[in-house]
Amino acid sequence: RNLKWQIECRADIGRLSAPFLAIYESLIPAEEEKAKQKKLLTLLEKLVCKEWPDARLYLYGSCANSFGVSKSDIDVCLAINDSEINKSEVLLKLADILQSDNLQNVQALTRARVPIVKLMDPVTGISCDICINNLLAVVNTKLLRDYAQIDVRLQQLAFIVKHWAKSRGVNVTYQGTLSSYAYVLMCIHFLQQRRPAILPCLQGMEKTYSVTVDDIECAYFDQVDKLHGFGSRNKESIARLVWAFFNYWAYGHDYASNVISVRTGSTISKQEKDWTRRIGNDRHLICIEDPFEVTHDLGRVVDKFSIKVLREEFERAAEIMQHDPNPCVKLFEPY
Ligand code: GTP
Ligand code: MG
Repeated sequence: RNLKWQIECRADIGRLSAPFLAIYESLIPAEEEKAKQKKLLTLLEKLVCKEWPDARLYLYGSCANSFGVSKSDIDVCLAINDSEINKSEVLLKLADILQSDNLQNVQALTRARVPIVKLMDPVTGISCDICINNLLAVVNTKLLRDYAQIDVRLQQLAFIVKHWAKSRGVNVTYQGTLSSYAYVLMCIHFLQQRRPAILPCLQGMEKTYSVTVDDIECAYFDQVDKLHGFGSRNKESIARLVWAFFNYWAYGHDYASNVISVRTGSTISKQEKDWTRRIGNDRHLICIEDPFEVTHDLGRVVDKFSIKVLREEFERAAEIMQHDPNPCVKLFEPY
């Protein structure tokens, strides 16, 4: 283990919170944007119901999980309660319907890992991806949204980390870096680990919400209004948390042996998950367990080149947070 993990935080960390909070505030979407998203969803519901009267539309991803910054695209899931459907056929049919209603840039991507229809609504200017029966994503969206209710520092940290990852080009899964979803899980795990803890482990508590999706039982404590103030014994400022987050991923995390797990509120060993060697394309060079699909490593996209890029970016960020007089500028510098 690198000794830098033991380093003491710079003494002037306190004065750095204001600029980080200013960045966070500037990324929060305006109410007006939310209204436009609702409007588009209503339009889509109307169109979909004509063809599939029993179908339902759900928002998922960053437009619904509280981690969406301003001007994001929206992710929609079309739920059709029929196991016999052919997804490609449905997507092509859906694309047809949308096209006839003057939605723009309509495209059915039937061969993608997650098949979708893409579209742009000329009235609101919002772009949208629609997938079919991806209900696990709807449920993990709820989990993230519920965590966000507990302590505002999660949303602040996640906005800053996502903004950093986009600025530095390390939020591109097809290039072997991590998804936004993975970064948010890293933030939740990190705040579960602080002492005193800033976030609880909702899946380790009494189960007040439970659904079974694709044979996976998704259950956890979702009465998060009862957890308000959970993290208040921990007084760490946002600047200190940003510092510690990057310090952890640069020097503290044991990449060789550990898996981060929001489900257990802890780290577990790669050995235990049998994630110690490469199987097919899954190399497990950085391991982030999906909270519900526990066989799913969100770090699976990372390869031997991109792991180097990622770790160098974590180290760069940690150095800036420790030494730079004005870290908010350098940290988000375009790569
Ligand atoms: P931005 O669009 O970058 O703001 O973030 P996002 O939260 O929409 O993230 P992303 O586009 O990476 O993913 C959209 C949603 O799909 C996530 O919020 C998850 O609900 C879901 N998702 C993404 N990747 C995975 C995955 O590998 N497994 C599962 N189960 N769900 C995923
Ligand atoms: Mg998205």
